[in-house]
Amino acid sequence: MIPVMNVQRQYASLQNELDEAALEVLHSGGYILGPKVADFEKQFAEYCGAKYAVGVGNGTDALVIALLACGIGAGDEVITTAMTFVSTAEAIAQVGATPVFVDIDPDTYTMDATKLEAAFSDKTKAVIPVHIYGQAADMDEIVKIAHAHGAKVIEDCAQAAGAKYKGRRTCSLGDLACVSFFPTKNLGAAGDAGIIVTSDEDLYKGCMAYRVHGSGLNGAYTYARLNGQEFDEDKIDFHGNLPKYYNYLVGFNSRLDALQAALLSVKLPHLDDWNARRREIAAIYNEKITNTALTKPVVADYNEHIFYVYPMKVENRSAFRAYMEEKGITTGVYFPVPMHEQACFAERGYKHGDFPVAEDLAEHGVTIPMFPELTDEEINQVISAVNEYKG
Ligand SMILES: Cc1ncc(COP(=O)(O)O)c(C=O)c1O
Repeated sequence: MIPVMNVQRQYASLQNELDEAALEVLHSGGYILGPKVADFEKQFAEYCGAKYAVGVGNGTDALVIALLACGIGAGDEVITTAMTFVSTAEAIAQVGATPVFVDIDPDTYTMDATKLEAAFSDKTKAVIPVHIYGQAADMDEIVKIAHAHGAKVIEDCAQAAGAKYKGRRTCSLGDLACVSFFPTKNLGAAGDAGIIVTSDEDLYKGCMAYRVHGSGLNGAYTYARLNGQEFDEDKIDFHGNLPKYYNYLVGFNSRLDALQAALLSVKLPHLDDWNARRREIAAIYNEKITNTALTKPVVADYNEHIFYVYPMKVENRSAFRAYMEEKGITTGVYFPVPMHEQACFAERGYKHGDFPVAEDLAEHGVTIPMFPELTDEEINQVISAVNEYKG
């Protein structure tokens, strides 16, 4: 079978370096935070063209912590897209806020910026555009509208590490950005891992505090900021004890592991090459897939897509998937249920028909194999199979 994604081949290509990095951490005895995490945070922030990065346990925690650092909670609304992985909307609900959905653009599948304005209310505190499948949402428009309402913009960059928008890297386009290093992501760890990126010092301190139980100076500073109080560092006294035992906010234990940080530091220098290879494979698919039963992805002219997946649409998805399976090719579905139709958000009162573009993609969307280590022979096999499909 040709897999839709594969993590072993990338490991094999860097095995010596990755093994060495992992062993170094194991021998060091420093497993929580420390220099490996700080180094990776610095490298990743620089890569994104941002000032700070805060390594956390996973991409979902990154979103939760980013929202809390903005002071968002009960009674607030946060706008996001109807087509995303559940984490985006779940994080909003986890902080006690209400997720409000907007339909997606029929070409790019990212948040339809023309529908954003209508989703605002006087309770809206943030917008989370999702760079779904690896291409950026129309960030200039989204940031302009959100900031005009005094709302923060948090990029959900879980599927688009390294993608570019108008020549600028994603993760540097809003107030905060959240990335997932889930193993199959285009920059994947060997377990759960995530990061928050920002150039705002206050938000950075908030994220630093929330990932470690809201403790220490960052916790005290952020508590004061979120409660409109003056902060005087000289008045903070830990009585000679460790600052981590003084908690100012109810936070989390959500830190990027030193082991994952060390592995990610080995992989980051390869990310641009891997993303370029993904684009190369996508260009071959674009050129050689001629079967009109399938709709090919559209890239906005201002975007450099990183093709986390190669998203297509087909009328009868189950027939197509069964056919491909018979040909020895795995396909994927990202995602079969749009957010407004998820059972966990039923109380929001949305109904089928509210977001027709997201619903259409949920019903007809399908992905074909996409990862940098696909061989030319495999790519040709996929193309022949797709072209021979009688839709
Ligand atoms: C769009 C999107 N947001 C958030 C996440 C959450 O990331 P994680 O699985 O690391 O918690 C994912 C990952 O699956 C995702 O695809």
